[in-house]
Amino acid sequence: MIDWPNRVREVMRYVGLTEDDRGRIKSTGPIVRRYADRLTTEVYDLIFEFPEAGKFFSLDDGSPDPKRVQDNKDSMVQWLQYLSQAPTNDAFARYLAAVSAMHRDIPIHRPGLPPVPYQFVIGTISFYQTRLLEIFREELGDDAQAARASASWNKILMVSLDALLGAYMVTS
Ligand code: HEM
Repeated sequence: MIDWPNRVREVMRYVGLTEDDRGRIKSTGPIVRRYADRLTTEVYDLIFEFPEAGKFFSLDDGSPDPKRVQDNKDSMVQWLQYLSQAPTNDAFARYLAAVSAMHRDIPIHRPGLPPVPYQFVIGTISFYQTRLLEIFREELGDDAQAARASASWNKILMVSLDALLGAYMVTS
């Protein structure tokens, strides 16, 4: 059994997520929240380009399932909003661990589907990293400031990624 709150704190220290980083994440939070919907729509467009990813959000005939897509978009937007508060509390760690377990345990509730292949989770985080830097450049109008904001977000995105992959390493 992994002690998620401790693990998340450890990774935060390891990636060097400082109070300055947390300050930058929070101060750029309004920008990220403003783009959250658009970014998440882009993520789902990407997901549907890959049948092994798109099938989690598809109907039996292979077309996108609008309700499932919308519900999951809302969940991803909430995750991004959560990150924008740069949380360090135990609930944040448990939340990420629960999402990880949900991705792994898909076959329990939806027989016929495998666990979410984690390369798509990694790829999604990379997608957000790339887009956030572009957005900060545009919105902050200063490359050095955008690079600093992006570096801080990269750290919390990596903390999140570690926990999002965590359930794949253990059996619960
Ligand atoms: C940064 C990456 C990702 C994050 C932060 C994320 C986050 C979440 C969250 C917050 C939930 C909902 C938890 C709840 O209902 O309480 C969820 C569920 C789910 N996610 Fe992800 N997700 C990510 C990537 C992916 C990818 C790439 C796929 C598939 C290719 C995927 C497939 C699913 C599925 C199938 C569910 C369960 C939905 C259901 O059937 O009820 N996720 N995810």
